[in-house]
Amino acid sequence: MIVSHFENPFSDPAVQPVDPTVMLDWLSREAVILQSRESEFREQVYLCVRGRRHPVVSAARLTEMGFRWPQDVQAAPARLLGSYAPGGIVPRPWADGIATESLTDAMAVREALASSLSGFGLEIGAGASPFPIPPRCRVMYGDRLTYEQLCAEPYPGQRLCDLVIPDILTDFDTIENVADESLDFLIACHVIEHTRNPIGSIAAAWRKLKPGGRLVLVVPDKERTFDRDRPVTPIDHLIQDHASPDHGRDYRHYEEFFRLAMPIPEFAFADEVARHFAEGYAIHYHVWTHDSFADMLDHIDRHVCPWTHVWTHPAVADESSCIEFYAVLVK
Ligand SMILES: C[S@@+](CC[C@H](N)C(=O)[O-])C[C@H]1O[C@@H](n2cnc3c(N)ncnc32)[C@H](O)[C@@H]1O
Repeated sequence: MIVSHFENPFSDPAVQPVDPTVMLDWLSREAVILQSRESEFREQVYLCVRGRRHPVVSAARLTEMGFRWPQDVQAAPARLLGSYAPGGIVPRPWADGIATESLTDAMAVREALASSLSGFGLEIGAGASPFPIPPRCRVMYGDRLTYEQLCAEPYPGQRLCDLVIPDILTDFDTIENVADESLDFLIACHVIEHTRNPIGSIAAAWRKLKPGGRLVLVVPDKERTFDRDRPVTPIDHLIQDHASPDHGRDYRHYEEFFRLAMPIPEFAFADEVARHFAEGYAIHYHVWTHDSFADMLDHIDRHVCPWTHVWTHPAVADESSCIEFYAVLVK
């Protein structure tokens, strides 16, 4: 990465509007650090690389990359910062792979997984929390919904300025619009529970990855979410969903979800479930613990597509700081 130390034409935030050619010049710079305090970006500092802005969580990360802190943090108009597409946070370097004993919170695990990624990849369903991505990687974002649809129904707590604009429309069930064997990595963080056929999703990911490519999955642990009263989805059910997809089976997930996870009163139950099903309301179709997910991966590895390495890690710490478990599969 080339670090730029240069004069900031935006040091006076009152300079508005920004000349588009100046904006384009900035957007094409290899790496700059920008902040737009008096705006929706508040105090957040961003490392801006090749058109994407990555939230910086500590000054140490930047000094490791050769930036001077705080001299290289430049004031920018919100319009310029908003022109960069959101990217994941800048991960810490994890030189020796995944040191599991040091993983004490969810973001630390995510960063550890991210540090082993390289090349070109796809993140599906980044929402407003794109996965941490080493700046050396090139990442494309995909979602089953358009940006407009994502903006119309943001998840609780999502800031619109953090919402990633999908580069492609694709469904994790099939991963259409992506060439086979084209990806060095594929990330799906809190997405697989939204798929009707998770075994099919993992098989599709296998096809899209190059040999040696990595699939990174982050999955809510049902015991740590609103799914805790639902039964673990049995492996036979998942196998059936893969072998013979069936709307009736999908419908029963809606009934279970609205009975046990987000209960709807009995008098409105049938109508509301039918409406949510017809509208494709985003439920968690299937629910897992770390162990039941590992069993599913074992089945996939033996009967569906052979991975060269399958690694899983249970949720860390307590549920106030981590509700998810992890899997990395190497093709
Ligand atoms: C719960 S959000 C997760 C956002 C973010 N990754 C995170 O961890 O906070 C799920 C995202 O995945 C997308 N999504 C859900 N089901 C999907 C599917 N079958 N294929 C592609 N994207 C899907 C949703 O539109 C949404 O953007």
